Amino acid sequence: MGNLDGQIAIVTGAARGIGQKIAVRLAADGAKIAVIDLKAEWCEETVAAVAAAGSEAIALGCNVAVSQEVDACVKEVIAKFGRVDIMVNNAGITKDGLLMRMSDDDWDAVLNVNLKGTFLFTRAVARPMMKNKAADGTQLGGAIINLASVVGIMGNAGQANYTASKGGVIALTKTTAKELGSRNIRCNAVAPGFIQSKMTDVLPDDVKKAYMDTIPLKRFGTAEDIANCVAFLVSPAASYITGQIISVNGGMIG
Ligand code: NAI
Repeated sequence: MGNLDGQIAIVTGAARGIGQKIAVRLAADGAKIAVIDLKAEWCEETVAAVAAAGSEAIALGCNVAVSQEVDACVKEVIAKFGRVDIMVNNAGITKDGLLMRMSDDDWDAVLNVNLKGTFLFTRAVARPMMKNKAADGTQLGGAIINLASVVGIMGNAGQANYTASKGGVIALTKTTAKELGSRNIRCNAVAPGFIQSKMTDVLPDDVKKAYMDTIPLKRFGTAEDIANCVAFLVSPAASYITGQIISVNGGMIG
């Protein structure tokens, strides 16, 4: 199989989009996957794709913004697979609007899913990851990947809640790396640029062209581009990389 043989990965928001591609990519590298989304039944397609990639998956329904659900979810993963080695905090939402008109509810909803959800899963997997040890007592730890965004680095009009949540994810990534590094738990963020998706397909052509003009590689990214970066960051090849924000944006910003 691959360089993640025997490892257990949790991927949130994995019913579709980028999370689904990450789950399948890590499965192809040998990891068994806990596919997490709001409803377990939404995850069937991903579970089947993981099986087709030669691995095994379970589907669990969990709202990443609710502490008790997150803790119960991690317990269930450990009951089923015995351990957690990889955590991918991918679930995310947008509720765009200009700052002056943004409601409290829209602010809270986005911060709760994107930032608090990332904190809750990180807290829940930290202790189980600390217990990962080799037969000779070597600390195996684990790898945590957070999905940030290019707009969490540069800001974006109409996305006060979303950009603040992703900026928060970036800071949380660096702090997690500092707190858990001594246990060999690495934490990095991937900051996608403009990724082809159902969300971006519906944008007007002139908006797409304006984005394209800022991308030196002259194409939009794909979910696979993001999954490839995640696969590298969780692999042994990245064992000395932690606390970093890796932009995958075609050169949009440095
Ligand atoms: P998507 O909307 O296609 O998928 C997100 C998934 O998260 C969905 O399956 C949804 O049901 C799930 N989800 C939403 N709220 C949840 C909750 N409370 N609990 C559990 N699951 C929940 O989004 P996409 O495009 O695949 O994005 C994935 C990540 O990448 C997000 O964090 C997003 O912010 C980030 N990103 C995406 C970019 C893009 O261009 N598509 C660009 C930059 C970052």
